[in-house]
Amino acid sequence: MKPGEHPLTHSIDMNTPSVARMYDWLLGGVDNYATDRDACALLLEIAPSTQLLARNNRAFLQRVVRHLVKDFGITQFLDHGSGLPTQDNVHQIAQRLKPESKVVYVDTDPIVLAQGRTLLQENEKTLVLHEDMRETEKIHEATKGFLDWKKPIAALFVSVLHCLPDADDDKDPAAVIEAVASRLVPGSCMVICQLVSDDPAVRHDVTRLMDESTRGNWGRVRSGDEVRAYFDGLTITEDGLGDVIDWRPDTPPPPPGRRATDWVEWGGVATL
Ligand SMILES: C[S@@+](CC[C@H](N)C(=O)[O-])C[C@H]1O[C@@H](n2cnc3c(N)ncnc32)[C@H](O)[C@@H]1O
Repeated sequence: MKPGEHPLTHSIDMNTPSVARMYDWLLGGVDNYATDRDACALLLEIAPSTQLLARNNRAFLQRVVRHLVKDFGITQFLDHGSGLPTQDNVHQIAQRLKPESKVVYVDTDPIVLAQGRTLLQENEKTLVLHEDMRETEKIHEATKGFLDWKKPIAALFVSVLHCLPDADDDKDPAAVIEAVASRLVPGSCMVICQLVSDDPAVRHDVTRLMDESTRGNWGRVRSGDEVRAYFDGLTITEDGLGDVIDWRPDTPPPPPGRRATDWVEWGGVATL
């Protein structure tokens, strides 16, 4: 059995909201259930600008992949917490610019695995792994024959670290980032962003809601300083860190009414 070909080991739980399906609904997708939509309704009561935030985040992901190929010469991607396939996924953007680009999608959600395989059936340059992103050694082993780890790779952690709780061991978000970065060669990139709010009440209320809704499949909404610390030891690009909506925008930065106000996806890009 080749890497990524193990059968669906977890069945889809239609009664517990999943982050992947909630995000799909926020983006206007149809791969979600009533339980996901109900959880989104509660979330929107606490943070009404969340749909805008999700769309802005997805636009950042698409923009950053384009720039990684064009400006940083990246043709290998390791996408942690890739989410459900939607329009213009990482491999489609990268392969449009450089057809030889290879992409590994890693996600724990069984529906992502099922949908991803369907979409990618005929794409030999793309691999979908049903794996916890904290299992960095397993992911490294599983991708050794597919990615060339002696050449630059972009490791993406886009809108996923808030799904990881703090831990005192190698499963802590900072430790996961360090473990992945330590395996990358010079010329590689790390893209890191997660949900951040300056408002302690939003941080607390959303964290509690999401933790309860997903039955513990959630981490924490953090502060900008906490996310900045994830970049320790890495070289942040000249773009700096901040609301990802401001990272190399294609058009002039949106006015206040087009920005999420309750919380933001905060982070940026670093090189090795
Ligand atoms: C908000 S979505 C982000 C999707 C995509 N990265 C984007 O920015 O458009 C978060 C994804 O992370 C996945 N996820 C959460 N915890 C994970 C873990 N420990 N390992 C792998 N994937 C995880 C969820 O299933 C979900 O698909």
